[in-house]
Amino acid sequence: MSVSSSSDHPTSTMANGQPSADPGSVQQIRYGNGNGGLVVLSDTQTIEVLAHFARERIPERSVHAKAAGAFGEFEVLEDVSDITDADFLTGVGKKTKVLTRISTVGGEKGSADTVRDVRGWAIKFYTEEGIQDFVFNDLPVFFIRDPIKFPSMNRSHKRHPQTNVPDNTMFWDFHKNNPEGIHALMHLFGSRGIPASLRNINGYSVHSYTLSKADGSYVYVKWHFKPEDGVKTMDANTAVRLAGSDPDYHVKDLFKSIENGKYPTWSVCVQVMKPEQVKSAPIDIFDCTFTWPFDKYPLRRIGRLTLNKNPNNYFQDIEQACFSPSNMVPGIGPSADPVLQARMFSYPDAHRYRVGPNYFQLPPNRPTNTVYAPYVRDGPGTMNGNYGSDPDYVFSELRPVSQSKRVQIPLQEHWDGKVSSFATKLSDNDFVQARQLWKIICKEENGKEHFLYNIIPTLQDIPATLRKEVLKYFGRVDPSLQQCLEEDLKKQH
Ligand code: HEM
Repeated sequence: MSVSSSSDHPTSTMANGQPSADPGSVQQIRYGNGNGGLVVLSDTQTIEVLAHFARERIPERSVHAKAAGAFGEFEVLEDVSDITDADFLTGVGKKTKVLTRISTVGGEKGSADTVRDVRGWAIKFYTEEGIQDFVFNDLPVFFIRDPIKFPSMNRSHKRHPQTNVPDNTMFWDFHKNNPEGIHALMHLFGSRGIPASLRNINGYSVHSYTLSKADGSYVYVKWHFKPEDGVKTMDANTAVRLAGSDPDYHVKDLFKSIENGKYPTWSVCVQVMKPEQVKSAPIDIFDCTFTWPFDKYPLRRIGRLTLNKNPNNYFQDIEQACFSPSNMVPGIGPSADPVLQARMFSYPDAHRYRVGPNYFQLPPNRPTNTVYAPYVRDGPGTMNGNYGSDPDYVFSELRPVSQSKRVQIPLQEHWDGKVSSFATKLSDNDFVQARQLWKIICKEENGKEHFLYNIIPTLQDIPATLRKEVLKYFGRVDPSLQQCLEEDLKKQH
């Protein structure tokens, strides 16, 4: 079935293809010549249009609901065959088609773009070995490291259960009592908390991942996308004004710039660490609240990402796009970061609920290589032939399957231990990188003033006891930061 037509005046039909006489009329038993009439149940066209309208929304994402999306390509620029043999990363000049979705996190689908928030950076590579997704953020670290806290953290950033509006008390109550997020908070209230455009944001894997080869050897990496046009940020006053006057500012900007042939590009790089370096590393590489120091682990460029095509239809291409950190191709693997492990469950689970269990058959999610997964079949809306008469159980002799020889899991990874309940604890070490960042902010032109200007309004309308505790919390980053906050708050009162 095709739903487009090359004709200037396509013939109007109903969804079953039957020609419709007048798509604006309603069948009814008329009451004289006026507007009165009883609508009849046999008017299938009216029923179809009204009934489909009531079902045209799918649940919006519980986080990252508002987004822009675009297609593009990734090109390999450097030889990285020493660390991975992932097909799409092999061979200088090799190009792979991609789909991206860049989002805010807390707001709903219709919320304003220019808010202080993390930007989600999801990208799907249609490789010859299956779909590879990177589900990244524009800030390098995350607010939590115990995955069970994810829903709590997000609720504290969203609407209050009683008032139904975002609430600074709830926000600070969560963060003060889950203090491991201090490094991410320092980034959020810095200048990068509001980007000037989606074309000018970084992308970070946040977690450590692995890159591996068929012989089972592997390295740990952190991924970085660097905008070739540079990082550009927006001051708080402009952002507030645009949030009211032009709430879709970032979405429009990306769309228009691609439409005008001004394609945004990013350098795609990795920081690399050998497995034998992990124990002596200055940071815990399985803790997503830490960055890896660049002097020890410099950026190594792999390729370039270019966004060069707008979606033809937002709902089909972007709203129904399903990204997941569990979508990985041979040569790329997860690490033992528990947050990443939990995410590998959570995203496909969200997709099965939000889009349906056959989401991978829809155009944006469909692999471009041959798929043979006959044990995943039936279900609502199946449209891939559903494996015809092929056996739907494993180890059939009727149509035996062959197996890939490619090692999927790095061979040296060896795990041995007891199941135990574990939650991370806070230590002074959690404030070290936040402190380093504060020093950098203080060296930037007006960096300190902007940071204070960004954070002060969120501290004004919260209970005095909580405010005092939050100030002490920032005092652990640097006593001078607590002092500046106290002085500025006094000036405001
Ligand atoms: C325990 C931690 C986390 C959990 C349970 C979680 C879960 C989710 C869920 C359920 C969605 C909605 C998916 C959908 O309905 O399509 C989502 C979206 C997203 N998350 Fe997470 N998340 C976590 C942490 C993170 C981190 C650390 C990052 C970045 C490094 C991240 C980046 C994103 C992005 C970019 C999206 C939007 C994807 C899209 O454009 O469709 N999340 N997350």
